Amino acid sequence: MLKGHTAIITGGSRGIGAAVSEKLASLGADIAVIYAGSTELAEQVCRKCEETYKVKARAYQCNVADFEQTKEVVQKIRADFENIGILVNNAGITRDGLIAMMKESAFDEVIDTNLKGAFNMIRHTCGIFMKGKYGRIVNISSVSGLTGNPGQINYSASKAGIVGLTKSVARELASKNITCNAVAPGFISTDMTKDLAQDNESILSAIPLKRAGRPEDVADAVAFLVCADYITGDVIRVDGGMAM
Ligand code: NAI
Repeated sequence: MLKGHTAIITGGSRGIGAAVSEKLASLGADIAVIYAGSTELAEQVCRKCEETYKVKARAYQCNVADFEQTKEVVQKIRADFENIGILVNNAGITRDGLIAMMKESAFDEVIDTNLKGAFNMIRHTCGIFMKGKYGRIVNISSVSGLTGNPGQINYSASKAGIVGLTKSVARELASKNITCNAVAPGFISTDMTKDLAQDNESILSAIPLKRAGRPEDVADAVAFLVCADYITGDVIRVDGGMAM
């Protein structure tokens, strides 16, 4: 279904990003994984994509918050791959704390990675999409950005920002056959949430479907949006009903 297309996935080395990389590879896309920390994990994801799905996959270390680094990494990916048409902005961090005590650096780091990171990647890939007359951008937001969450003002601001960014990009680039949508996950079992027990009663009681989500649940929604030709500017919640 995605054979002949190349997908860039930021934060693709683990958690939701790894599941998205594997899902898009299973649909035939070649995969460029961008990661911040573990080369070993990123290469493991690429190996799995190549061996299981017979697609081309490469890993690139890059800090998405850095404008110049993202420009260079997109140039590298362009030299290594053909037909770059899919971008999944998934890289994200949390630096939780109450507003009365939050350090300026905790606010800045989260906005720079989660929101500016998505801007940087779209800024450097949109020219390629316009030239190819095809683009499918999916940004990972969060239910925190839709409803707010105490202790996460930096994170919810970045994720609400993603929603505004998504809709404006969708309006700006629609005429070029470029869609831009967002997925807002709820509580998903990954490294990001491992310190909050997965069977935590108060969290589960807020989820009508009564379980934490799996990275694959989010990856399925991303793949749906990547394959959809007539959906743009939308936000799909993958949260077991948490934020309805
Ligand atoms: P994770 O912590 O397991 O993985 C995050 C990924 O982002 C890693 O691959 C990491 O290397 C990468 N990353 C972090 N900072 C980066 C940077 N500056 N440059 C490049 N890569 C960077 O997190 P998880 O849970 O897989 O989250 C993925 C996305 O989903 C994030 O945007 C997160 O905010 C969002 N999300 C997660 C939820 C959850 O419950 N796990 C809920 C709602 C949203």
